[in-house]
Amino acid sequence: MTITQPTWVFGYGSLIWKQDFPYLESRPGRITGWARRFWQGSHDHRGQDHDPGRVVTLVAAPGEHCDGRAFLVEPEVFEHLDHREKNGYERIAVEITFESGGVTGIVYRACENNVAFLGPAPPVEMAAQINRCAGPSGSNREYVLELARALRSMGYSDHHVFEVESWVLAR
Ligand code: SIN
Repeated sequence: MTITQPTWVFGYGSLIWKQDFPYLESRPGRITGWARRFWQGSHDHRGQDHDPGRVVTLVAAPGEHCDGRAFLVEPEVFEHLDHREKNGYERIAVEITFESGGVTGIVYRACENNVAFLGPAPPVEMAAQINRCAGPSGSNREYVLELARALRSMGYSDHHVFEVESWVLAR
């Protein structure tokens, strides 16, 4: 997918709380038909080859929605984002809903057949893995706590994220 003009990128994980890229504008937004899950393995940011951490991806969820933050970025920023999201994520086109209307944008999604995909596990097991793992970008625990904090600060609720967060904090 060649991008030639400023484009909206929908962030639903670390992109919400860690912006190491320039952007022209950012807005809270929503995508419909997707749910955020800690089902993607992270060998490169929040874990290691022999002990991957858990980060979020999107799973198809008819009737549900995922709230996040969208960033309007120049085309050249995608080189950085592609590198940052290289461990199993691919760009897909998505409809992003803002309070003021909708746009077609891009989201990075790690699909079920990528090699780093971990899939579901009981929250208590995911929390144990998250509390144990760390990688070049920091601890997996920080990833979860910062995501939960960022969602709360935007007034969003996400049962899955908050449930995993509570197990992480309980341990
Ligand atoms: C995103 O934040 O939109 C993608 C997943 C991640 O980098 O945590």
